[in-house]
Amino acid sequence: MSDQFILEVKNLTKDFPGVRALDNVDFKVRKGEIHCLVGENGAGKSTLMNVISGVYPKGSYEGVVRFKGQETNYKSTKDSEHDGLAIIHQELTLSPYLSIYENLFLGHMKTRFGLIDWDACLKDSFPLLRKVGLHERPQTIVSKMSVGKQQLVEIARAISQDAELLIFDEPTASLNDEESQKLLSLIREFKKEGITCIMISHKLDEVLSIADSITILRDGQSIVSFDLAEKKVSEQEIIKGMVGRELKNLFPQKEPDVGDVVFEVKDWNVYHPDYHQMKIVDNASFFVRKGEIVSFCGPMGAGRTEMMMSIFGNSYGYGASGEIYLKGKRVSFKNPKDAIEQGLGYVSEDRKTLGLIMIQDVKTNITNSSLPKLSRRGVLDKDLELRKATEYKEALQIKTPSLEQLVRNLSGGNQQKVVLSRCLLADPDIFIVDEPTRGIDVGAKFEIYSILNDMVKQGKSVIVVSSELAEAISMSDRIYVMNEGKIKGVLDRSEATQERIMHMALID
Ligand SMILES: Nc1ncnc2c1ncn2[C@@H]1O[C@H](COP(=O)(O)OP(=O)(O)OP(=O)(O)O)[C@@H](O)[C@H]1O
Ligand SMILES: [Mg+2]
Repeated sequence: MSDQFILEVKNLTKDFPGVRALDNVDFKVRKGEIHCLVGENGAGKSTLMNVISGVYPKGSYEGVVRFKGQETNYKSTKDSEHDGLAIIHQELTLSPYLSIYENLFLGHMKTRFGLIDWDACLKDSFPLLRKVGLHERPQTIVSKMSVGKQQLVEIARAISQDAELLIFDEPTASLNDEESQKLLSLIREFKKEGITCIMISHKLDEVLSIADSITILRDGQSIVSFDLAEKKVSEQEIIKGMVGRELKNLFPQKEPDVGDVVFEVKDWNVYHPDYHQMKIVDNASFFVRKGEIVSFCGPMGAGRTEMMMSIFGNSYGYGASGEIYLKGKRVSFKNPKDAIEQGLGYVSEDRKTLGLIMIQDVKTNITNSSLPKLSRRGVLDKDLELRKATEYKEALQIKTPSLEQLVRNLSGGNQQKVVLSRCLLADPDIFIVDEPTRGIDVGAKFEIYSILNDMVKQGKSVIVVSSELAEAISMSDRIYVMNEGKIKGVLDRSEATQERIMHMALID
């Protein structure tokens, strides 16, 4: 019976100091299927995949993992790759300053007479790139490409070694709708070729569109598995399994209560940091009122992030020009620190490079932008620091054994909550958040929307850059639509639909 299952996990338990990440988990994957794994932030999804793929070696967990009928004995991912099992991690692991083809063959280069044969590597990279649909020169430096394209390199790398089982840990979290659809099609292609795929995702609509089976993890335990060929399940049923209770609304009610314009940007232009003649933001003007949540939507590469970053103290681009008005007064921000001091807050979309200090603990990461506020006569009030950090840990339900835990040991979604906490504690008047709910589970999304709602109720203003149109429409008072560096138009909440936003982005 068991050759029907390419992967079988039995009674798997994995402990970290102070945390039982996996608690007696059973998990079975049929050969040739697409199996989706869902669960709240910190439920143990990534840990389970890391055990299966040898990131955590045999001996560091209890229980049995069987791949192709054999109990595994992996010491590292090198062993599992050799065995036909490859993982594409939640946080990309490419070397940013190397080229595509160097990344593809790093760690398993072709050699000739004992020397690395780069010509052979280059040659072999073409069919791989074709297969994943990446139209770039193999010599392109990885950091010059979008996240979506980097993801494809990572997948090409995984399939370069004849994988029979591919594991995708939140592959679409950083992709827009179009790129996500492309990636899902690629996974379907793999299935047609007989490759088994496991996919973790918080986007339940895409889970339902692609899965043959679904397994739900909650608090480190396997709760239930569905075989969709036997029985259809609804999004509501999955959510209930994930959070352990009914979740009636996905978005909290927002009472519109907006005042005067408090923040205005006029004729904003920014050029590419390396190619100075290339315009990234083209004469953009917008405003935000007191108590308002305003979203910026548009396709990837529309210039939304670049515009916000350049406004926020020139943290992106070259030759930024334009006017900024804060509460009616013309201002300028020399650098991010200057912007923060004048009342702006910014949460970047890229928590790893711009957001968090991974090797510091949760408490320090939450409080380190607010130290003057937490100090008395220049001395940090440690009790107050602890109280504040605890307050945010509870408000956002950050899952961690203690505030002393290093941030790098938190699950992806919980790291995102730490970034948000830090900015909330700094208490800006104008809060810019770029993809605030990326990698966040449905329940925690609701919490984050509620917190943004509370902020605007207190008279602050929020600017959201969001790739999730449903989120933007439900959350915001107004939506600016951008494409190709230009603001194409603005919609009130009452008139915004996904179709109208997309149409507006594409018309001239
Ligand atoms: N290296 C580690 N050291 C200590 N604790 C860890 C480590 N890795 C994970 N954990 C803890 O194990 C639990 C499960 O984490 P895991 O990353 O598997 O969650 P997840 O389901 O992938 O969540 P997310 O949806 O946020 O990515 C969490 O409580 C996390 O803090
Ligand atoms: Mg994870």
